[in-house]
Amino acid sequence: MPHPYVPYVLLSAAVSLDGYLDDTGPDRLLLSSPADFDRVDEVRASVDAILIGAGTIRADNPRLLVNSPQRRAGRVAAGKPEYPLKVTVTASGDLDPTANFWHTGGDKLVYTTDKGAERARELGLAADVVALGPDLDWRVLLEHLHAVRGVDRLMVEGGGTIHTQLLQQGLADELHLVLSPLFVGDDKAPRLFGPGTYQPGRLRLVETRPIEDVVLMRYEPTAPGTGDLPSAADHHWLALACDLAADCPPSETAFSVGAVVVADDGTELSRGHSREAGDPVVHAEEAALAKIDPQDPRLPTATVYTSLEPCTHRASRPKPCAQLILDAGVRRVVTAWREPDTFVEGADGSGALAARGVTVVVLPEYEERAKAPNSHLTG
Ligand SMILES: NC(=O)c1ccc[n+]([C@@H]2O[C@H](COP(=O)([O-])OP(=O)(O)OC[C@H]3O[C@@H](n4cnc5c(N)ncnc54)[C@H](OP(=O)(O)O)[C@@H]3O)[C@@H](O)[C@H]2O)c1
Repeated sequence: MPHPYVPYVLLSAAVSLDGYLDDTGPDRLLLSSPADFDRVDEVRASVDAILIGAGTIRADNPRLLVNSPQRRAGRVAAGKPEYPLKVTVTASGDLDPTANFWHTGGDKLVYTTDKGAERARELGLAADVVALGPDLDWRVLLEHLHAVRGVDRLMVEGGGTIHTQLLQQGLADELHLVLSPLFVGDDKAPRLFGPGTYQPGRLRLVETRPIEDVVLMRYEPTAPGTGDLPSAADHHWLALACDLAADCPPSETAFSVGAVVVADDGTELSRGHSREAGDPVVHAEEAALAKIDPQDPRLPTATVYTSLEPCTHRASRPKPCAQLILDAGVRRVVTAWREPDTFVEGADGSGALAARGVTVVVLPEYEERAKAPNSHLTG
């Protein structure tokens, strides 16, 4: 089933060497350096919305502005509002109506519960208040942000309660973590990530950058989602499969497709693309699965990412890719593009797999990327 679009979510935080977000004093602890605050300003200028938790409004009373006039002018020149939308979440709705958050920068939006909305409206907060029901569901919030407010890129600036939930629920696409060379040493101080269940395995380190005396580290989550709920890592892996499709030797008689097989802890098991290694008829999923020991115990909980849904009919080899996936014991497939009628009438690899109990997740936002290397076939 296709899923509603959710924005790209970027978590941003600075921590002390002993892993704290703040101390317990009344003033906000400055963890970043001046040049790093400027980098944060640049990231803010690049997003459609910035989100913080109600706890951070209470503790820090931040303004969340884009401070650079040049960056604001750049946004306006690009047809965007001068400042990103400011978003907060609260269950209680109990927020100080005089806080800086409401009276500076761009439009303001509060996501809350039915009960919290009553309180927020009583307080007369200078913001749009959206009640999401008795509880706040992050996926619903993100879908709403995109569908109703047009948000494609969301920056989340804490605090720890918010970061923890987004990472644990597989909804964070990227983490910008700044390590600051100081200690807090107070176990009552807030930590970046709280207890709970995180993705198994290791995140992917994308970049390290020294900035004055702090270090920026950028990480991406790697673990596939479970069941039919797509995780942020599902998006990354499917994007890789689409990139692999672009590496295929072009053909007039077959699609260019990329595939990646990933274990449930985010370990890449193999990758492949159509017609790789001089084989003129090999398919992407076939090429990728052929590189894994069929007895590999990680296969039953692995996910196959493929830019085009697996084939069900094939003249060139005895088994179509949907069958190879079933034979390998893989129970989850994520794909970008349903097969058109170009070569096979009414192909339905997703339906065939689903009928055999495989979960098939279609992310149509990647369809154009999957189609791009095939434009000579599809017109
Ligand atoms: N170093 C950094 O980069 C950085 C960045 C930001 C913040 N901080 C620090 O982090 C601390 C604040 O962090 P925090 O964890 O206490 O607060 P927080 O994450 O900013 O906000 C927590 C609050 O958000 C609301 N909330 C969270 N999840 C919710 C959900 N699922 N449904 C409904 N409402 C939800 C609740 O508000 P209600 O209580 O109103 O219901 C909750 O109390 C401060 O000390 C601040 O200085 C540091």
